[in-house]
Amino acid sequence: MADQYAQSGEDSRPTDIPTIRWEEPPEGPVVVLLDQTRLPAEEVELVCTDAPALVEAIRSLAVRGAPVLGIAGAYGVALAAARGFDVDEAATGLAGARPTAVNLSVGVRRALSAYRAALAKSGDAGQAAIAALVAARALHREDAEASARMAERGLALLDELLPGGGHRILTHCNTGSLVSGGEGTAFAVALAAHRVGRLRRLWVDETRPLLQGARLTAYEAARSGMAYTLLTDNAAGSLFAAGEVDAVLIGADRIAADGSVANKVGSYPLAVLARYHHVPFIVVAPVTTVDPDTPDGASIEVEQRPGFEVTEVAAPQVPVTGVGGGMPVAPLGTTAYNPAFDVTPPELVTAIVTEEGVVSPVTAEALEELCARSREV
Ligand code: MRU
Repeated sequence: MADQYAQSGEDSRPTDIPTIRWEEPPEGPVVVLLDQTRLPAEEVELVCTDAPALVEAIRSLAVRGAPVLGIAGAYGVALAAARGFDVDEAATGLAGARPTAVNLSVGVRRALSAYRAALAKSGDAGQAAIAALVAARALHREDAEASARMAERGLALLDELLPGGGHRILTHCNTGSLVSGGEGTAFAVALAAHRVGRLRRLWVDETRPLLQGARLTAYEAARSGMAYTLLTDNAAGSLFAAGEVDAVLIGADRIAADGSVANKVGSYPLAVLARYHHVPFIVVAPVTTVDPDTPDGASIEVEQRPGFEVTEVAAPQVPVTGVGGGMPVAPLGTTAYNPAFDVTPPELVTAIVTEEGVVSPVTAEALEELCARSREV
């Protein structure tokens, strides 16, 4: 696989299949996803013909990562409308499919509002369905644009914080093209650094239990020709201690009004390590991830995932004996603590990079100002 992708810094897409797209074959409209549960072994499409199929794809993480969840939610509403299903019911199901990434409900609401406004104006469900699709497409396009602007601002910040260049960046989970209409959030910044020759190494946390780092970020890094190295989550401490990390770059699923950042579980320990070792801890996320209605970190609902994701390792080639269909790595009946996310308090975050600007230091006032500015645009 590596040869095929060797040093292709200009190849901005990580796969030959777009992460998400809308299609209108003769049988009716569909939302087509790249099934991320099958990566990196196979690039397989998942075709969703209705909102419940999309809800299942979201729950199973076939499509995942905050920005693209918003896009999926919006397309899901458009799909229900175009196929003549109950749009309100579809919207409720989609918005509730996963609780932590605020982008999902933001995307659903945007398409639903467009649908309702067009229906109220024209009284025509067909027109309203078109309006929902237009809204979903606009969100998709805007996310791609936001991604490019975050990359630019993030790279400028890295250069400012680390004037020597040759950045060694540690990242967690997956934040590239697979989570976005564009090139992603934190990963897009690392990619921008790579393209101008300033990325010395991307350290990729494997990201237990579902291995988004090993399966997806390593995949995207390899395709982009980046110098990257995979580590177990537990190895991050010794990497910091060895002075091998210049900055941590992560994404976010929800940023509360006070600047608390919910992101993939394992992010908070990295923030603590970064503070101890005087390394910048930088969060990269679109403004849609900032949720002014969530006052603080304690108010963020953290998704709890099934225990079998921890007690088993998904290995389809191994005889299936575990309750979740994977290979058990703990005695049967073992219970597991499996929060999908953790929350980093604002005082541990050096900066939040958005498409509208950089917030540093991270304060409620600065975030509020950023959100107000983005509403004016
Ligand atoms: O459970 P996942 O894979 O959806 O978690 C994704 C993350 O935690 C990402 O870091 C986050 O959505 C930011 S992506 C821009």
